[in-house]
Amino acid sequence: MIVRKTAAELEKMRRSGLLVWRVLKALERMVEPGISTMDLEVAAERMIRDAGARPAFKGYYVPAVGRQYPFVLCTSVNEEIVHGMPSPKRVLKEGDIVSIDTGVELEGYYGDSAITVPVGRISPEAERLLRVTREALELAIDRARQGNRLLDISAAIETHVQAAGFSVVRDYVGHGIGTRLHEEPQVPNYVDRRNENPRLKEGMVLAIEPMVAAGRAEVALRPDRWTAVTRDGSYAAHFEHCVAVTANGPLVLTRPEDNEP
Ligand code: MF3
Ligand code: CO
Repeated sequence: MIVRKTAAELEKMRRSGLLVWRVLKALERMVEPGISTMDLEVAAERMIRDAGARPAFKGYYVPAVGRQYPFVLCTSVNEEIVHGMPSPKRVLKEGDIVSIDTGVELEGYYGDSAITVPVGRISPEAERLLRVTREALELAIDRARQGNRLLDISAAIETHVQAAGFSVVRDYVGHGIGTRLHEEPQVPNYVDRRNENPRLKEGMVLAIEPMVAAGRAEVALRPDRWTAVTRDGSYAAHFEHCVAVTANGPLVLTRPEDNEP
């Protein structure tokens, strides 16, 4: 069942969403050669707790892995796609890209967002990967409208990524979000006729999160059993926003309204 949210609930989700946005903005500004992914983790946890919120990922049980995720952030560097774990040993260097994904729970409602950030100067191809993935997310957000169907969102992502010559990662998908981090429906970044394709209705909130590989889409797991990487070692990018379907069109909850790209 897809839970639809009232206007009052969307207001609460907006507060969680804006906290996530504020945290990611601060972390983005910290990213430079020489900083470790654990530096980002420590700063994020402090900001979230200072705001009276709870980190949504830390201790979250992920059925596919069969364990609780141990950190506030997922920090996935270069060929790492998702669930990269912060470490003081992972020091970022010029030319890297780092995906930073985090979620919070504030007054019972969740927010979840991700960005991929360049470390210093990066290659033109890495620049293009970030741009195309960000554009795919924006095109998908624009499809989050009453009367459209779920797979219209998926198709927008897949079409844009394929046209750029990149690959959509299929092993991880977006999700509904609200009083739980993961709610129905799953929001795939590709179209498959086997997927459910409900009509989008007012009050639905979707965490849309394209993960894109510069090369092939095949995924491998590191021995830590969390970190997902591209099998071919190509770089991967990940951007995510929580989006509400409203009578006035898509409402992005994880950024201020005057901050659209
Ligand atoms: N943003 C991802 C998601 O929504 C990561 C959360 S899983 C966790 O599924 F392991 F980090 F908790
Ligand atoms: Co998510």
